[in-house]
Amino acid sequence: MNYVRSSLFAVLFLALALPLGVQAGDPVRGQELSEACTACHGSDGNSANPEWPKLAGQHPSYLYKQLMNYKSERRVNALMAGQVANLDEQDMRDLAAYYAQQEISPGTADETVAERGERIYRGGIPAAGVAACMACHGANGNGNPAAMFPAMGGQHAQYNSDQLRYFRNGQRANDNGRMMRNIAARLSDDDIEAVTQYMQGLRAE
Ligand code: HEC
Ligand code: HEC
Repeated sequence: MNYVRSSLFAVLFLALALPLGVQAGDPVRGQELSEACTACHGSDGNSANPEWPKLAGQHPSYLYKQLMNYKSERRVNALMAGQVANLDEQDMRDLAAYYAQQEISPGTADETVAERGERIYRGGIPAAGVAACMACHGANGNGNPAAMFPAMGGQHAQYNSDQLRYFRNGQRANDNGRMMRNIAARLSDDDIEAVTQYMQGLRAE
């Protein structure tokens, strides 16, 4: 009976785990490799400079995709191009696993624009055809690992607003199906300022 129960459990576990975890990284090795990254991203993935993204707590699937995109120059940035040049796919998986396990440091929103930002995040901008950010990035900014939608709660507003402008002008074009370019094209500078401030204050759960 116990045997039957535990093998049933094993089958169920494999069925659930396989699609997501086929090639999980090794966070211990990732931590060793991350020494090269601490100058900009902090020792625990919480960067001090608001122009550099926090990596702590981000989904490993998303982090891995970004590293692969820098390597293939699908995402172009001079600072990161030099960083990925000597990393192989296993290194990237290990780094992604390490950062995913760290805890993101909380941020706060500029109260003068947070309300406008919250409206955009939760309801989109219907008149401009902008979908609610929440639909993909989650009610608490947790994102969606299976779909590789990044987590947002606590991310630097400065970094995120730069990225939205890059999506808007096409400098960043690694979003599958133009998901973010189509949205950013319809955002004004004030919309971007407001929604990224709101996301900076969101608490991931
Ligand atoms: C000299 C500073 C610097 C160093 C060192 C550095 N990075 Fe970065 N990193 C950046 C900047 C700046 C960006 C944003 C670039 C852009 O606009 O695409 C970035 C972006 C990223 C992103 C994308 C995050 C997101 O939310 O999309 C990942 C992942 C990343 N870095 C991982 C690493 C790893 C792993 C290392 C070490 C092997 C590393 N970085 C070293 C500056 C740095
Ligand atoms: C249909 C799903 C979807 C919706 C709706 C959506 N996003 Fe995204 N967003 C994505 C995906 C997918 C990516 C990652 C693209 C990639 O693979 O690099 C992303 C990335 C981002 C990034 C870059 C994050 C980073 O770490 O570099 C920002 C900022 C962002 N979205 C903001 C928003 C805002 C603000 C809204 C609402 C106005 C929004 N998104 C609505 C799917 C969506």
